[in-house]
Amino acid sequence: MNYKVLDSIKNSDEDALKEQFSQDVLTGFTSEKKYLSSKYFYDDKGSELFVKITDLEEYYPTKAEEEILENNKQKIVSHFNTQKLNVVELGAGDGHKTKLLLDELFNNDVPLEYNPIDISEDAIKGVCEKLNKDDFETFGIVGEYIPALKWANKNKEGKKLVLFLGSNIGNFSLHDSLVFLRTIWKNLSKDDHILIGFDMKKDINLLINAYNDDKGVTSEFNLNVLNRMNNELGANFVIGSFQHFGTYNPNIGAMESYLISTKSQTVRVDYLEKNFHFDEFEAIHLEYSFKYLQKDIEYLAKETGFEIVENFSDKKGHFVDSLWRVIKE
Ligand code: AVJ
Repeated sequence: MNYKVLDSIKNSDEDALKEQFSQDVLTGFTSEKKYLSSKYFYDDKGSELFVKITDLEEYYPTKAEEEILENNKQKIVSHFNTQKLNVVELGAGDGHKTKLLLDELFNNDVPLEYNPIDISEDAIKGVCEKLNKDDFETFGIVGEYIPALKWANKNKEGKKLVLFLGSNIGNFSLHDSLVFLRTIWKNLSKDDHILIGFDMKKDINLLINAYNDDKGVTSEFNLNVLNRMNNELGANFVIGSFQHFGTYNPNIGAMESYLISTKSQTVRVDYLEKNFHFDEFEAIHLEYSFKYLQKDIEYLAKETGFEIVENFSDKKGHFVDSLWRVIKE
């Protein structure tokens, strides 16, 4: 087995995870405006559906980022010498984009080990199997980002290049982004690097299409969280009684996903021993996907202890991969 499951998410702790999930459902569904964190999208089924989203015509971020990495991989790799490098990826995806970079590093004789991190064991298994035939070593970590990064920092020798691609940061509020980036900074050493993907502000029609695809995969992805509550918390959501709605909020600069209750209904969550009522057309807020300006990227780097080494963009300017270096005094 070429991956490790962190103790903090092993079976013995399944109860604690369930406890947290149900607590978040309780807090979110008793709030004046119902909400649930988008982190609950990513059970094994949700991770699989997200990979399907990245293959959609309308979902431009993955294609734009692939173009960036394909066209700039030499430039990116030129910032790394032949010291041992640990490429630590937050969120495993299907490894396709990352492989472009890893192959380029390997071909430039950078001794490297790839450490994908993901909360989904299936996702880690998938990437590890896919990349295992390659010349460099792959060792996955199943866990939450920060505990897994801490583990890598303690147990892996090399300089770090942290990859946080795909605009995963877009799910965080500004406050949470600052806290998250500072925590990453704290767990890295001077001259380690991070490559972060940012989805840029753009024509709103393109955004709306990307989060409301014709095949309905995004809808299935959002509705899957109801299945998850049914399976894990003994809820009795009728999936057909909720509808996905994706919209852009220019006031905060984010795509937002909602599930709308299409009728007046009451749903029981056994694990909480509680019923929740949904009025017809009542919404559950599920996701923020923030979009950025160049100056936002500069602000985030400067505020959290990094220096921007170089920004890489696709031809249309839809997406930016920003390479940052850790500054320590
Ligand atoms: C995985 C957070 C980058 O916000 O674009 C895709 C998730 N949600 N379609 C995004 C998502 C709906 C995605 N991230």
